[in-house]
Amino acid sequence: MKIDGKDKRSLWFEGGRLKLIDQRKLPYSLEIFVAKSVDNVVFAINEMVVRGAPAIGAAAAYGMVMGSQDIIKTEKKLQQTRPTAFDLFYATSYMKNAIEKGICPLIAAEEYVEGIINRCRKIGRHGEKLISDNSKILTHCNAGALATVDYGTALAPIRAAHAKGKKIFVYADETRPRCQGLLTAWELKQEGIPNSIIVDNAAGYYMQKGEIDIVIVGADRIAKNGDFANKIGTYEKAIVAKENSIPFYVAAPESTFDQSIENGSKITIEERNKEELIYVNGKRIMPEWASVKNPAFDITPKKYVTGYITERGIIKK
Ligand code: MRU
Repeated sequence: MKIDGKDKRSLWFEGGRLKLIDQRKLPYSLEIFVAKSVDNVVFAINEMVVRGAPAIGAAAAYGMVMGSQDIIKTEKKLQQTRPTAFDLFYATSYMKNAIEKGICPLIAAEEYVEGIINRCRKIGRHGEKLISDNSKILTHCNAGALATVDYGTALAPIRAAHAKGKKIFVYADETRPRCQGLLTAWELKQEGIPNSIIVDNAAGYYMQKGEIDIVIVGADRIAKNGDFANKIGTYEKAIVAKENSIPFYVAAPESTFDQSIENGSKITIEERNKEELIYVNGKRIMPEWASVKNPAFDITPKKYVTGYITERGIIKK
C-alpha cells in the first residue's frame, strides 16, 4: 500500500521483533507498535493494534516465531485472542506444522505472509472484472492493506479497477464502534480513489436511490456451505442489496474458508469490551446506567451472496 507515496506494509518482522502500524492511532498519526514477545503480539491482536482476519493471521505467524521454543503454549495463547477470525487458526496451525517438520520458523512465517499478499493480488485481478467503468461500490469495515498486510481483499478489486483506469467511487461504511471505515477512506485517499464515508445506516438509503452498483465485503470466516461471518452490520447490507437487486460479493483468500464447519450457525461470534461503545477517544459518552452489548461480527447466510472472489477465481453461488 502507499503511505505518503511510499510502498509500505501494515506489519513486518525486523531484528527479532514484530513491527505493526498501530491502527488505533490512524489516520491521525502513523506510529509503529513494536511487539517484543508473544504476550505483546497477544496484546496487539486483542486491542486491535492489528486487525482484519488475514493481518491477524500474519501477526500470529510471527508470534509463533517468537514463541517457537514452546509452540503448543504459544499457539494456545494466540488462539485465545479473537475467536471469529479463521485466519488466526489457519496461520498458527500452518506454523506449528512447519516448525514440527523442522522448517526454520522465520522462513515459514515469511513464506506465509508472502502467500497472503500474492493471494490478495490475485483476488484483485479476478474481482476487477466485476467492476464496470463508472461504478459506485459499497464496502463495509476495512478489508484493505491494513487488514491483510498489503493490497487487501475487498479493496483488492477496487485497487485493481482503479489501476486499470476505471472511474470508480467507493462508499465506505463507517463501522461502529471502531470506525474502520475511516481506515478504508484513508487507504483509498492514499491511492487517489474517490470515496465518501457514510454511517452504517445510510447504506440502505443509497442502495434504494440506485447509487450503488455493487457491494464487496471481506470475511472473517466462511463456513463450508458459504455462510460467512464479517463485521457486524454486514448481514443487513446483504439483505438490502438483495432487496434492491445489487450484486453482493465476498472477497477472501483460502485462509478464511473454514472447511471444518458446515454452516454459519457454528461460527463463534466475538463479543467485545463494552467500553468500546461507552467511551469515544477516552471520553465517556453514555451514562453509568446505560447497558450495552458489543458483538463484533454477524453471520450472513449464503443465499444473499452473489459470489466469492478468491485467489482461484470467482465462485458463483
Ligand atoms: O474487527 P475487525 O476490524 O478485525 O473486523 C474486520 C472485518 O470484519 C474484515 O472485513 C475481515 O476481517 C476481512 S479483512 C480482509
